[in-house]
Amino acid sequence: MDQAPTKRLYIKTYGCQMNVYDSERMADVLRPLGYGLTDAPEGADLVVLNTCHIREKATEKVYSELGRIKELKMLKAEAGGGAMTIAVAGCVAQAEGAEIMRRQPAVDLVVGPQSYHRLPELIARAHRASGEALAADFTPEEKFDALAPSTRVSEGYSAFLTVQEGCDKFCTFCVVPYTRGAEYSRPAEAILAEARALAESGVREVTLLGQNVNAYDDGAGGGLAGLARRLARIEGLDRIRYTTSHPRDMDEALIGAHGELEALMPYLHLPVQSGSDRTLKAMNRGHTAEHYLRLVEKIRAARSDIALSGDFIVGFPGESEADFEATLSLVRAVGYASAFTFKYSRRPGTPASSMAGQVDEAEKTDRLARLNTLIESQQSAFNAAMVGRTVPVLFERPGRHPGQILGRSPYLQAVHATGPDHLIGRIVPVRIKSAARMSLTAALELETA
Ligand code: 5AD
Ligand code: SF4
Repeated sequence: MDQAPTKRLYIKTYGCQMNVYDSERMADVLRPLGYGLTDAPEGADLVVLNTCHIREKATEKVYSELGRIKELKMLKAEAGGGAMTIAVAGCVAQAEGAEIMRRQPAVDLVVGPQSYHRLPELIARAHRASGEALAADFTPEEKFDALAPSTRVSEGYSAFLTVQEGCDKFCTFCVVPYTRGAEYSRPAEAILAEARALAESGVREVTLLGQNVNAYDDGAGGGLAGLARRLARIEGLDRIRYTTSHPRDMDEALIGAHGELEALMPYLHLPVQSGSDRTLKAMNRGHTAEHYLRLVEKIRAARSDIALSGDFIVGFPGESEADFEATLSLVRAVGYASAFTFKYSRRPGTPASSMAGQVDEAEKTDRLARLNTLIESQQSAFNAAMVGRTVPVLFERPGRHPGQILGRSPYLQAVHATGPDHLIGRIVPVRIKSAARMSLTAALELETA
């Protein structure tokens, strides 16, 4: 049994879902030391910023938040509340290391994504010395082993589960291969143990995480499709999702699994970044627009109702109006259920940051707005087509209004319904009554009401 927490831990998470997963695991590692989570940084004994380095804006946000946290640290000390330890984790920690402590001396320790299992020791050392920076001293294997997968619990009904980390693709705009390192797949047995522990704690849905999740290969064969099949056999685990996939790693077995495995949800995040072959080449994506479109066809042949999502970058160096229009045509040809769109952001150390033909900020803004208009109309249309259909929803929590419960459709749409709290944690068929761009409203079928 855990003891009641005696120290307050505040974790702020930026960026991707893998950071959300890592933050949960950091809380797990710190719990035996008496740290309990709190949802505000004021007065906390330990503040962890789990950072994102993917775009410049994300990094700058971290430094401005550190300025605010430093004020809180001073206030706490002045009020006789003792020390506040400030830790920076995540990809900014990995990429900028000691530079962070130089720019913000109030930071006590810096810890990269492969070293979270060493947090207790780092905190103890930071309390004795004047700060620590620990970046990539460990292999992913050492980290995952030390995080004891079978002890994983979750308070919710849907949980993230990291199966793969890192990236060997080296898209010319991206920092991930430098901050998260080479592709590494966790052994299936460790993942299955973690999934079983999650299912026993009530989890019904897992989202398998990896920077290149569909490159999953633990050396035992079977790839991600094989892993999904084994996970689907775990009692209570009814839904499996995975993100993020690379078009190059979308193999026949995984496509086939979408047609056969009931637990594999009909939603796929498959970033293409651009619809122009010239731009795709400059991005070092290793695929063309045609290849991506053919892939989408195959996936739809296996699972016709699959909801597709993507990532897009506008204003990549050298992107002309014609290149951008090729992206719009690809979007029209695919028909997305949702997408994430970004203006190209120059990341120091990546090949694209020194490419000729950097695109004007105003031009990027204009292209982003045009792309967003198109995507938003597709998203609204996708949701509108659901009205009148009955779909199974996993209810995850109470909604904002009394009597309201909130869940997700198989297509990852947020669904609101009026219904009793005991449906939370259950998968229930509901009839979709109305649709907006970001969510659906549903009524319970009579027998569950
Ligand atoms: N500029 C803009 N967007 C980027 N992404 C990654 N690096 C950059 C960058 N330098 C986007 C890509 C990726 C998503 C996670 O972030 O679209 O798929
Ligand atoms: Fe970055 Fe490309 Fe790797 Fe995705 S595939 S993490 S965009 S380098």
